[in-house]
Amino acid sequence: MNKIKSIVVAGLGLTLGLASCDSGNMRRTPGHVYAPDMTYSRAYESYTSNPNFSDGLTNRAPVTGAIARDHAMPDHLNEGDTIAYKSYTTAARFNADELKEGGRLFNIYCAICHGPNMDGNGPLYSSGKFAAMPANFKDAKYLHMPVGQMYAGIKYGKNMMGSYASQLDTKQRWMVIAYIKKMQSENGGDAFVFGEATAKPDTAAKATAVTEEKKVAANK
Ligand code: HEC
Repeated sequence: MNKIKSIVVAGLGLTLGLASCDSGNMRRTPGHVYAPDMTYSRAYESYTSNPNFSDGLTNRAPVTGAIARDHAMPDHLNEGDTIAYKSYTTAARFNADELKEGGRLFNIYCAICHGPNMDGNGPLYSSGKFAAMPANFKDAKYLHMPVGQMYAGIKYGKNMMGSYASQLDTKQRWMVIAYIKKMQSENGGDAFVFGEATAKPDTAAKATAVTEEKKVAANK
């Protein structure tokens, strides 16, 4: 008796299951609409056409010059303008964790050539697989290199060194530079100025913004 019962229950389950899967054409109509403004959007949907704009699209591009949240102000550098490179700088200051992060990024992206201890003798160069001698950051030639020039080196590359602009965003570039400058300050370079003590990060960001605004105004 129990066997029959379970067969019947299983059969019923199967029938119900299959019936719920039925998505024949008849079910594709929404049926009665009780709340039309919930069923039919009154606003233009993102990917629909739109008669209000000359290009006929609803999706709008950001206003020219808009900067995404948490992204840095543009640097206004032009590739090859080495004079501008040298005077370019940042007001950003970094705490110990950020300096550590700069070191982590340096070891990922730069140490293979510049060497983990920054002497220009990284594994790629010392193995003889890379022909050009990477900059030795402990050498007098680089100890006092302006930070803006370093920034440009990362952004645009330099001779045999490629650009790292797509791997490192603006803040990361400065964190790596701060990490290099910290080492240099301990090896005869200029005093280290990227430390947190000078300004809190949000004040620094505001200071950068003000400098940038002035630059924009000056360029007008
Ligand atoms: C594939 C090897 C390689 C990697 C990786 C590399 N560099 Fe270089 N870098 C070089 C070489 C070679 C030079 C020397 C270029 C020259 O002066 O001809 C150089 C030069 C530089 C300079 C001096 C630029 C100048 O104006 O003279 C800086 C600063 C620099 N690198 C920073 C970095 C940083 C930061 C990273 C990591 C994000 C990095 N490099 C990754 C090979 C590399």
